[in-house]
Amino acid sequence: MPSIPNQFNCFRINQEEDKVVSGLQSISMDDVNPGEVTLKTEYSSINYKDALAATGAGKILRTFPLIGGVDVAGEVVESDDTRFKPGDKVIAACSGLSETNDGGYSEYTRISKDAAIQLPDQIDTRTAMAIGTAGFAAGLAIFKMKLNKQTPEMGPIVVTGATGGVGSIAIDMLSSSGFETTAITRKKTHDEYLKSIGTTNIICLEEMEMGERPLERAQFGGGIDNVGGEILSWVLRSTVPEGNVASIGLAADFKLPTNVMPFILRGVNLLGVNSTTLPNAFKQEVWEDIASNMLPQKISQIVTKEVTLEELPDQFQAFLEGSVVGRVVVKV
Ligand SMILES: NC(=O)c1ccc[n+]([C@@H]2O[C@H](COP(=O)([O-])OP(=O)(O)OC[C@H]3O[C@@H](n4cnc5c(N)ncnc54)[C@H](OP(=O)(O)O)[C@@H]3O)[C@@H](O)[C@H]2O)c1
Repeated sequence: MPSIPNQFNCFRINQEEDKVVSGLQSISMDDVNPGEVTLKTEYSSINYKDALAATGAGKILRTFPLIGGVDVAGEVVESDDTRFKPGDKVIAACSGLSETNDGGYSEYTRISKDAAIQLPDQIDTRTAMAIGTAGFAAGLAIFKMKLNKQTPEMGPIVVTGATGGVGSIAIDMLSSSGFETTAITRKKTHDEYLKSIGTTNIICLEEMEMGERPLERAQFGGGIDNVGGEILSWVLRSTVPEGNVASIGLAADFKLPTNVMPFILRGVNLLGVNSTTLPNAFKQEVWEDIASNMLPQKISQIVTKEVTLEELPDQFQAFLEGSVVGRVVVKV
C-alpha cells in the first residue's frame, strides 16, 4: 500500500484581491479538508465546470483555496469508514468537489464517506473518469428516460451539443443501449467523429429550421439537451407522444421559451437532470446501471486528450469557447 508522502503536487484555486488565481502547488495532507476516505489519485477529468472554476469565468468555488477537479478516481490508502478499505477502488463525482471541498487535481485526495462510490467491477478508474461528471449526467438522463418507459421503438433520441463531453458520452451510451441517435452540432467538420461514436444522423445547428409552431413534426423519440434556449424548445415541440426530453445543460442559454402543447397534447415529459443533488445510494445505482447496461463502447475515440496536472491551464480556454471535442482525462 503506498504511504502518503509529506509533500505532493496539486492544482489549487485561490482568490487574490477578488481575482481567481490557480496553479500547481506542493502541499501536505494538513492542507487538505477533512474526510473519512483518502485516495491515491489515479485519474480525474476536465468538465466545463472545471474550466469555469479554475479561470474564475464562473463562480463555482464557495470557499477558497480549494484543489480543483470535480471528479476523482483512485485507490483507497486510508479509511475511517467500514465500507471502504485500503486497496479498494473508489470514484467521487458530482459531490461538491472543487466547490465546497478539495477536488481531484491532486496526487492524494481526501473525500467524505458520503461522496465515495465503489468503482463498479466492469470498469477501471480511467474509464470511470472518461465518463466523469459529464458522462454520469448523460447516464442519469438515460436512467430516468428508461424509468419513464422510453424505448428504441419510439424513435431516435436527439442529442444537442453533440461533440461536447455530455453529448458524446450520451450518444455512445444510447447506442450501446439499443437507441438510434440524431446529433445536433455547431461543428460542421466533425461528422466523422460523430459517426465513429455511434450516431446515425447529424444535423448542423446553423442549417436548422426550427419553425415557430406550437408543435412541429414529431420526429424524435426523445432528447438529451445540453444547450437550453430555443433548441430545447424545438426538441420538445418535435418529440413523439409520451417521449422524454432530459434537460442537462445551458451551453447556449438558461432560458426556455416554450408553450404547453407538447405536454398537454403529446404527453411529452421534460426530465430535470442534476447529478449533484442525488443521494449517494442512488448515485451508486446509476453508476452500476451505466457499467452493466449502457457502458460506452467508443471511449478511445471520445477521450480526445489525456493530460497531466502541469498541462491543465492550457486546456481550460477551449472549454470556455465550446471548442472541445469529447472528453479530456487527467492522469495524475
Ligand atoms: N445537470 C448536470 O448535472 C450537468 C452535469 C454536467 C454538465 N452539465 C452541463 O451540461 C452542458 C454540457 O457540458 P459538457 O461537459 O458537455 O460541456 P462541453 O464539453 O463544453 O460541451 C458543450 C457543447 O455544447 C455545444 N455548445 C457550446 N456552446 C454553444 C452555444 N452557444 N450554442 C449551441 N451549442 C453550444 C458545443 O457542442 P457542438 O459544437 O457539437 O454543438 C459544445 O461542445 C454544460 O452546460 C454543463 O454545465 C450539467
